[in-house]
Amino acid sequence: MLAQRIERLTSSLVRDILAVAQRPGVISFAGGLPASEALLNVDLAALPPELLANAMQYGPTEGERGLREHVAERMAKIGFECRADQVLILNGSQQGIDLVSKLMIEEGTPVLVEEPAYLAALQSFKLFGADLRTVPLHQGVDIDALAAILPSVQMAYLTPTFQNPSAYCYSEAERKAVAALADTHGVCLFEDDPYRELAYDTPAPAPLVSFIQSAPWIYQGSFSKTLAPGLRLGFLIAHPDLMPHLIRLKQAADLHSNRLSQLIVSQILATGQLEPHLAKSLPIYRERRDAMAAALQQHLSNHATWSLPAGGLFFWVKLHCVSDTLALMRRALAQNLAIMPGVAFMASGRDDGYLRLNFSHAKPEQIEAGIAQLAALLTE
Ligand SMILES: Cc1ncc(COP(=O)(O)O)c(C=O)c1O
Repeated sequence: MLAQRIERLTSSLVRDILAVAQRPGVISFAGGLPASEALLNVDLAALPPELLANAMQYGPTEGERGLREHVAERMAKIGFECRADQVLILNGSQQGIDLVSKLMIEEGTPVLVEEPAYLAALQSFKLFGADLRTVPLHQGVDIDALAAILPSVQMAYLTPTFQNPSAYCYSEAERKAVAALADTHGVCLFEDDPYRELAYDTPAPAPLVSFIQSAPWIYQGSFSKTLAPGLRLGFLIAHPDLMPHLIRLKQAADLHSNRLSQLIVSQILATGQLEPHLAKSLPIYRERRDAMAAALQQHLSNHATWSLPAGGLFFWVKLHCVSDTLALMRRALAQNLAIMPGVAFMASGRDDGYLRLNFSHAKPEQIEAGIAQLAALLTE
């Protein structure tokens, strides 16, 4: 009775763990939740009443013109020129992954992904029947492996900036090398970029797609990590040839994105409030990142290795003596500690003993207590 693809629909481990992680008393390093203190405070009464009334009506599939223009302006500032009519407003960038999956993937379509990669993208690509091919990402992207695989795939999905889960940020040279390979082989490059603004040391290089000359490309960003995930607002920018298809797919999916959220974010951007908001949020994240770094150093240095993330929301921790991170996750959950097993991010299904630890949601004192608890579990 059900479509065959439903058999490929694995439950999202994130959703399952998050359900437990939000129970009172649980210390959670599991989700990718922004700090509660960094969430946007919305004053609906301050919105112009005529715009608010207008937002209650159906709207354009592509998104509000003003918001699309603001997004195009922001892109120009990070070194990527595009026109407002290349911008499609999304109900969260997760929707971009769904639309691109529908556009590009049928049963058996070869798709290149990083190993590790964002697990909800893997879930969507698998649902549509992708044949996933992996390129290792470990303190750098393996350009030789990428060059060997790229000619045989139709799309490459990359998160070059403060990747979820590894936090790795491609250098400009790596971006140029990957873009040149995509051009040579005419492979569609799908760049997912929700963490760019969460840079703790230096700003990230320009988007990878800005170095592309001829290959088809799709780029997406999100307001979830900078403003509030509950707004469910993201955006996608694509090569002009792909736009008409993506707009029709968006129309078929949900007609248009939430207009109230679009109005709120348009006002934030129009009145220049995003930068001051980020200036308040980044010290909170930096403090929590540094608290986790200190706790890891104190409690886990005999058990694991890691790098300090220069941006994003996660530590990617390699445990020395653990081969079943799912079992470790279950033991931790039984003690009210939520962690993400690295195996969930591996398209190959390999468990190399990694954990993804989110540092943005728990408060510094909880971070210290949670890492101490993890260390105790590892010595048991
Ligand atoms: C790499 C990546 N892409 C996309 C998303 C989806 O974000 P949203 O739909 O909230 O914009 C996330 C969320 O954590 C993510 O980490």
